[in-house]
Amino acid sequence: EESETGQVVAGERRLTSEELRSHRWWGTEGLRSFSHRARTRQLGYLPEEHLGKPVIAVVNTWSDINPCHQHLRERAEAVKRGVWQAGGFPLEFPVATLSETFQKPTPMLYRNLLSMETEELLRSYPVDGAVLLGGCDKTTPALLMGAASVDLPAVFVPAGPMLRGHWRGETLGSGTDMWKYWDERRAGRIGDRELGELECGLARSPGTCMTMGTASTMASVAEVLGVTMPGAAAIPAVDSAHSRMAAAAGRRIVDLVWSDARLSRFLTLDAYHDAVATVLALGGSTNAVIHLIAMAGRSRVPLSLADFDRIAREVPVLADLRPGGRFLMEDFYYAGGVPSLLARLGEEYLCLDRPTVGHASLREQLVGAATHDTEVVRPLDRPLAEGGLAVLRGNLAPDGAVIKHIAAQPHLLKHTGPAVVFDDYQTMQATINEPALEITADSVLVLRGAGPLGGPGMPEYGMLPIPDYLLKQGVTDMVRLSDARMSGTSYGACVLHIAPESHVGGPLALVRDGDLITLDVEARTLRLEVEDAELERRRAAWTPPEPRYGRGFGALYQEHITQADTGCDFAFLSREGEVPEPHAG
Ligand code: FES
Ligand code: MG
Repeated sequence: EESETGQVVAGERRLTSEELRSHRWWGTEGLRSFSHRARTRQLGYLPEEHLGKPVIAVVNTWSDINPCHQHLRERAEAVKRGVWQAGGFPLEFPVATLSETFQKPTPMLYRNLLSMETEELLRSYPVDGAVLLGGCDKTTPALLMGAASVDLPAVFVPAGPMLRGHWRGETLGSGTDMWKYWDERRAGRIGDRELGELECGLARSPGTCMTMGTASTMASVAEVLGVTMPGAAAIPAVDSAHSRMAAAAGRRIVDLVWSDARLSRFLTLDAYHDAVATVLALGGSTNAVIHLIAMAGRSRVPLSLADFDRIAREVPVLADLRPGGRFLMEDFYYAGGVPSLLARLGEEYLCLDRPTVGHASLREQLVGAATHDTEVVRPLDRPLAEGGLAVLRGNLAPDGAVIKHIAAQPHLLKHTGPAVVFDDYQTMQATINEPALEITADSVLVLRGAGPLGGPGMPEYGMLPIPDYLLKQGVTDMVRLSDARMSGTSYGACVLHIAPESHVGGPLALVRDGDLITLDVEARTLRLEVEDAELERRRAAWTPPEPRYGRGFGALYQEHITQADTGCDFAFLSREGEVPEPHAG
């Protein structure tokens, strides 16, 4: 059961009402404050209901089109209940919803936009602290990037995973089993009736994908960073513990405001290193690499790809969760969730002497954390694998690439094969099954034009499809390369995030059909077996593609987006620089 904590630390200075940020709006002398008070009466509040109280923004990503956030309207009410109970004044701020399932070309195009919206709303309104509600993939990094940029006190309420899927007595994982059964369909082993039943069974409750995909990975990241209530990340969206956690977050944020405990107190380099270790121990999503680097950038903390590779070489995979393993988030919750995993990692892999929003230290927070199922969360002496992902370099990826090798078939981890190149996703989809391409199980499938600019938005195209005729022969994995991302629920020997991307002239742009490519995960290399002189000739003949957007957000995006190895943030958001606070009156 979640613990409710948040005792005042002895000797800690508390703010006075006059020191609250919101005091500048309501408490000062003059016409403006008079007007703000009049407009708050218009909202239906008496002076004694709000004056002198911390104003808490309840930042809500609920929308009718976001199935992962369906329950967040109700949860916002639970948060507000907690805020009122603790003597705060809650105000709900609806913000953009990034629905992984519906938004095209990809919500990744809009992660930075939601981060900007969050930052600017928190800054421009009379807000003293925030509770951030969301969880579908990009939402978690976006909200935390925005809040960290303003650096107010904040608590993140993860939307929580949906319940396990079911079909004809089988347990289904969202994403993962969707890919799997679609392949069955393509191989002709699944009919219309079965497909209709699967549609009903894959995602059967509100909440985020219940595999250790990007949503669950990023929720766990928020928990280990210390910005959620203890144990929050694995609570199923529809479990009543989720409402209790939301109300507890509402109570806690009020106290955090009074003690001026801003996000920067928690989002330290130690915390980010622990987040990397946790992602690896979870066998988490490769998307976390990009998001964590971007989040750290907003926290003014130097986190790089090299940190991932270093930590990946040390940290064992302990959580047996799909897509890499067997179990789902519901099982993880019953097994003890993130606290059980963190307690396992302990002092050897984590920095326990850092504060969290719930406790004076992570060490204190983990007292009593137990594992109730040692199959779901393995002990350190019985890990599933060593190192959940690898950072590759070589002449094909000078600024790095990433592979989640525990989700790949082992015989492909050292492999040389001839390239079959696709210039864009649509061409690949249209031609992948053509026998003329002569794709074999040894071929290396290459997709380019799918990076941050080329995609645009770096879509989750990274798990390139295996041709139907090979599937029918029983081939279930192949070496695949791209400058795209991959869904956290995908799997296979897929090399991702190749940087620089082909669109800006990265070496991926120079690969031709039949070139030999060598992947060697053990050596952490990705090589194009073509002479440098020949590559130079090809480079001289290469012309950069035209920019896609002539105006609008896409134009802003293409002018400022950075490459995968630096987190795909906008350069003007991640750089140092002052932003003036709105003044009184
Ligand atoms: Fe929302 Fe997977 S679609 S978390
Ligand atoms: Mg996803």
